[in-house]
Amino acid sequence: MLRFDDRVAIVTGAGHGLGRSHALLLAERGAKVVVNDLGGALDGTGASAGPAAEVVELITKNGGQAVANADNVATPEGAQAIVQAAVDTFGKIDIVVNNAGILRDRSFGKMTVEEFDAVLAVHVRGSYLVSRAAYPYMKEAGYGRVVNTSSPAGLFGNFGQANYSTAKMGLVGLTRTIGIEGARNGIKANAIAPVAWTRMTESLLPAEFEAKFTPERVSALVAYLVHDSCEVSGEVFTVGGGKVARVMVAEGPGWRSDDISPEAVADNWGAIMAEQPYVLTAADSMKAML
Ligand code: NAI
Repeated sequence: MLRFDDRVAIVTGAGHGLGRSHALLLAERGAKVVVNDLGGALDGTGASAGPAAEVVELITKNGGQAVANADNVATPEGAQAIVQAAVDTFGKIDIVVNNAGILRDRSFGKMTVEEFDAVLAVHVRGSYLVSRAAYPYMKEAGYGRVVNTSSPAGLFGNFGQANYSTAKMGLVGLTRTIGIEGARNGIKANAIAPVAWTRMTESLLPAEFEAKFTPERVSALVAYLVHDSCEVSGEVFTVGGGKVARVMVAEGPGWRSDDISPEAVADNWGAIMAEQPYVLTAADSMKAML
């Protein structure tokens, strides 16, 4: 059994849905958990200490160890306070699961700048700020696990979610770079793109999804990715309904010519669009241009 005894974890947005499920699973398996949740509505408005406190009560009742925190991940002070709660209460920080999120869906032509910024602030800025606050402790300890929460909507695009998909693809870049930079200090970062029945999706998914797409089925992958034994870093996985799959940012073999021109590009479009064989890293991408 993969256990987390002596590990300290932060799960953001853990008052509801996926985050709540991640926090319960990690605590059940021995981790000491900071249960963070601002406690607002789905669109990010409002705040309440209630949801985080309720999850902590449940963990404690089950014999686990947890502390509640209701700070906002999207402000530097809030992110710092979340990490401080881990250090003050449990003495260190080993695991960060950036899960907090909001929705402000609207079609691209109608979306306001405020709606765009608000969604990027929680998902991208929030994940960046909490990871940033935890990073010095992880570096010092020579150990860390970060999981960021992307979305199929970000990886593949989705109607009405220009803000959300921009944010969720942004998290792929953040994850991959933390993975590269963290390697020398034992820090691994990966991202999940989940599907689960939560308050965020219950009005969008068909009713029959509720029983199959449980948050617990996503948490199983999260627990693996934040365990000592996890060897991958900088990877992205779709996960939902019991299925897990690697998602690759891949570059096709392409076409090159010293006489490149707009017409030559048009003439070679088939080769440019080819998918196999592909490369997976910036270094290999550059090498293929030489
Ligand atoms: P949820 O609405 O149940 O949970 C999100 C939690 O984040 C809420 O408890 C909310 O209070 C908290 N939160 C929001 N803004 C915050 C802030 N500034 N600071 C701290 N906490 C904050 O939704 P769900 O579905 O559990 O979502 C969790 C994550 O998974 C989100 O990042 C979401 O975008 C992502 N996701 C969920 C999918 C699904 O199928 N449910 C699909 C793809 C991604």
